[in-house]
Amino acid sequence: MTDLAALETELAARIDAAQNLEALEALRVETLGKKGRVTELMKTLGTIAPEERKARGAAFNVLKDAIAAKLDARKAALEGSALDARLAQETVDVTLPPRAREEGRIHPISQTIDELVAIFGEMGFAVAEGPDIESDDYNFTRLNIPPEHPARQAHDTFYLAGKPGESHVVLRTHTSPVQVRSMLGQKPPIRVIAPGRTYRSDSDATHSPNFHQIEGLIVDKSTHMGHLKGCLVDFVRAFFEIPDLRYRFRPSYFPFTEPSAEMDIACTRGNGELKLGVGDDWLEILGCGMVNPKVLSMCGIDPEEYQGFAFGMGIERVAMLKYGIPDLRTFYEADMRWLRHYGFAPADVPTLAGGLAR
Ligand code: DAH
Repeated sequence: MTDLAALETELAARIDAAQNLEALEALRVETLGKKGRVTELMKTLGTIAPEERKARGAAFNVLKDAIAAKLDARKAALEGSALDARLAQETVDVTLPPRAREEGRIHPISQTIDELVAIFGEMGFAVAEGPDIESDDYNFTRLNIPPEHPARQAHDTFYLAGKPGESHVVLRTHTSPVQVRSMLGQKPPIRVIAPGRTYRSDSDATHSPNFHQIEGLIVDKSTHMGHLKGCLVDFVRAFFEIPDLRYRFRPSYFPFTEPSAEMDIACTRGNGELKLGVGDDWLEILGCGMVNPKVLSMCGIDPEEYQGFAFGMGIERVAMLKYGIPDLRTFYEADMRWLRHYGFAPADVPTLAGGLAR
């Protein structure tokens, strides 16, 4: 039997020395494979004298089982260390902060819209949308600005060539047509805001042909002017992050609201600096009012049963005030230096709890 013991010792040593799974597999073929050395030994049983055959066969089986067990054990060890090596190489420290050098920046317009959505979202407003290309009917008529109404002149409208016989199509001059869409499309109570692009044929240092507004609309059975005031005061204080910001409401006129008002916030100018929230000067911030009953009717809502308020605000304007951006035109120049200075880090999503802008 010493021949078998020697063979086992030799194979065991080689199995232990196998450095990887490929080498081990080659050894398995060499020993237990169809033409392997142990397999060949088993085949010799037939040539052995019958009286020795039983003992010899048992010894072959012991050898075969021992080699198979060794191969399995080595395989498990090699697989384990391969996994360990891979884990060590692919280690990720999930506690590290995000990479400090982000590639892009969030444009102040996008940031401001995110902030507005965060604030009004917390108050229970849903975000509504409408198309940039709007019907004359929704942009004007159903907002109580019929054809020939003087308010149309004030809008410097871009009219698009319509098909003969169809009503005119315009680039929307304000986000107010989203009010019409919301009232026609859903049953009260309605509580929506609609940020988006708006267009007017006007271009100078303080006007851009494409700019942004946000619209707000509430329609239900009991909302009154006190709610309008409370909502907008809470909003400006949250947005400008000035808890005791001074404000005033001035009577105004919009065809789609009655009564109408404009909201101003206090400011101080001096030494080339503008300070918000305090002082005796005023900055106009937004237009607002109770939804005109005529508008409710034209949008399929019974003014005897329902009422509500609306507001509209220029996004560039409040962004310029909040972030001290002096020139409107720079918003659209896509200048990377400007964006690096005035832009925001992509991972800093504004929330009321976590902070609007960092
Ligand atoms: N649409 C008006 C504009 O572009 C702004 C506005 C004023 C919207 C009063 C309103 C509102 O919803 O109630 O000048």
